[in-house]
Amino acid sequence: MRIATFVSGRGSNLKAILNYPELKRKIDIKWVITDKPFCKALDIANENNISFYCIDKYKITEKYDCLAELFKKDNIELIVLAGFLKLLPSTFVNNFKKRIINIHPALLPSYGGEGMYGMNVHKAVFNAGDRESGATVHFVDETYDTGIIIAQEKIDVSQCSSPEEIAASVLNIEHKLLPEVIEKIADGKIKIGI
Ligand code: GAR
Repeated sequence: MRIATFVSGRGSNLKAILNYPELKRKIDIKWVITDKPFCKALDIANENNISFYCIDKYKITEKYDCLAELFKKDNIELIVLAGFLKLLPSTFVNNFKKRIINIHPALLPSYGGEGMYGMNVHKAVFNAGDRESGATVHFVDETYDTGIIIAQEKIDVSQCSSPEEIAASVLNIEHKLLPEVIEKIADGKIKIGI
């Protein structure tokens, strides 16, 4: 299965996908796209000889239209947002209906929406005194974190004494949940597309 990924940060989820043994012969990551030209995730793309492209903030719609064309020519079947923090333009989302998935570091529908990403999520969970958190993989629609939920895993965070501890525990879950979902998609156990 031919995949394009979108990243904005350190790329640990990208690495988890690349290192997941069961995926080695099932997927081919053709592209890493980022909005952050100096992010660590690009080093991972480089080390793995994956083509990458930095999307800057000017003429965004045109750039996404070009990407959509490129992905279609390149027969990209699945787009994985692995720590990508921007909202995708609706034209792009509509071009790849039910072919874009996202990992979110909380139990959606709680702690989703604009501004709810990365440490903001874990601080909110900590401040609310929640005993549970987790990770969610969902299809991407035109708004933040509202697409159909594909998979979710909970963990007990009642013993965590800081948002950073919650983040570390949730990240462990993410590194398993996202590759597992991708494997199920590659195996046809989760249907994508319309
Ligand atoms: C991950 O925790 C991911 O769930 C989160 O950003 C982090 C990226 O880490 N994504 C969001 O918050 C999206 N709303 P990584 O760059 O090490 O994979």
